[in-house]
Amino acid sequence: MLLEIAWLTLAAIHFGVPLTYYAYLKSYLDKPWNLKIDDGYAPTVSIVIPTYDEEAFIESRLDNILEQGYPSERLEIIVVDSASSDRTVELARSWGREHPDAKLRILEEPERRGKTSALNTALQHANGEVVVLADADSFWEKNALKEAVKYFAEPKVGAVTCLKMPMQRGEAKRQTLAVESTYRSFYNKVRVAESKIHSTPIFHGELAAFRKRTLLKIGGFKQGIGADDSHAATLIALENYRAIMAPEIIAYELTPRSLKSYIAWKARRAIHLVQSFWLTVKEIRRAPIGFRRILLTEAFLHLVNPWLLLVASLLFIAFIMVSEFLLLKIVALLTLTFALTIKRIRRVLTTWVIDQLVLIYACLKGLRSKEVPWTKIEEVRGPSACNLTC
Ligand code: GDD
Ligand code: MN
Repeated sequence: MLLEIAWLTLAAIHFGVPLTYYAYLKSYLDKPWNLKIDDGYAPTVSIVIPTYDEEAFIESRLDNILEQGYPSERLEIIVVDSASSDRTVELARSWGREHPDAKLRILEEPERRGKTSALNTALQHANGEVVVLADADSFWEKNALKEAVKYFAEPKVGAVTCLKMPMQRGEAKRQTLAVESTYRSFYNKVRVAESKIHSTPIFHGELAAFRKRTLLKIGGFKQGIGADDSHAATLIALENYRAIMAPEIIAYELTPRSLKSYIAWKARRAIHLVQSFWLTVKEIRRAPIGFRRILLTEAFLHLVNPWLLLVASLLFIAFIMVSEFLLLKIVALLTLTFALTIKRIRRVLTTWVIDQLVLIYACLKGLRSKEVPWTKIEEVRGPSACNLTC
């Protein structure tokens, strides 16, 4: 009987906590922001594009920023490159010559010390009141920049980020795009609802805007932390500024096509997130009340909850093999088999299980190692504009 109670309890906690959290958050999605939002607000902005071997994307990235139509006299663009081995810097320079009106500066680091280090170099040179990180391999929806900046009219807002929409190169949609889309459609809602309550601890460097003053207050980007974007946002929320994700700010990014690359890509990001949560959850006592519950739940979901699934699954297998409760076994197996025949449930469960396994791996790996510059997944390289599917 102990075995039955154990796996059922663990499974109930594992699925119950996120489902309850989601149900609780959902009621906030349609609530007003209660912030001063001004469409006409146009502070000076520094866009920072960190690059390491981004020759495939750099020109379209710069075009995409110019197409945002932000007042050019209030906009500067800083490309900070860490000794790329390809033509990134050369292409950025020639783009600058072709667009003399764009205030483009290119900072070249003599050696590669990682993205955070590059961001801090750029921060020393940024003159804007708002600093916006723009990963080289992402694409912003038209007006994304204006949509983000308008929230800084509210003095309490310290950081603003985008929703991420996955896309893929090539005609045929692959399974990885379906999995990533399921993942994003769920988490985009979660992050926006958290933002309505107070702040979200997860940011996206594809478009992550920070009030420079607030960013300097937390000491810039913490060295040795891979999740530069999320970590900075969490520290800002801990200072009781709002760090928010708003639904009208949209950025696109390429999803790797093969399952192997997709999992490696998610694993690296998860390692960075786990490292960040491990540090920030220790600061929980100084979290403002609205953010405390969010940080605690997210830290639980990233650091603890995946392990419950692992243990519950092992106990479930043991239960199927050794338990004397034949009827219970039949009911459990039939329920599972029936659930898996429904396409939508199958997709959600696959997405969920991949995510949990990746987090377990990330905990094992990430809590021991320090951030080192990462290798880009080859599949997300290449000409950006060819045959994209969303
Ligand atoms: N200057 C510089 N130096 N830039 C770098 C370095 C470096 O050592 N390493 C990576 N970058 C740049 C890339 O060129 C790209 O513009 C951006 O940082 C993000 O790197 P990607 O290789 O595209 O990684 P990602 O898309 O998986 O990154 C996501 O997760 C990271 C944390 O794990 C994004 O959300 C990032 O913003 C986030 O930092
Ligand atoms: Mn990227």
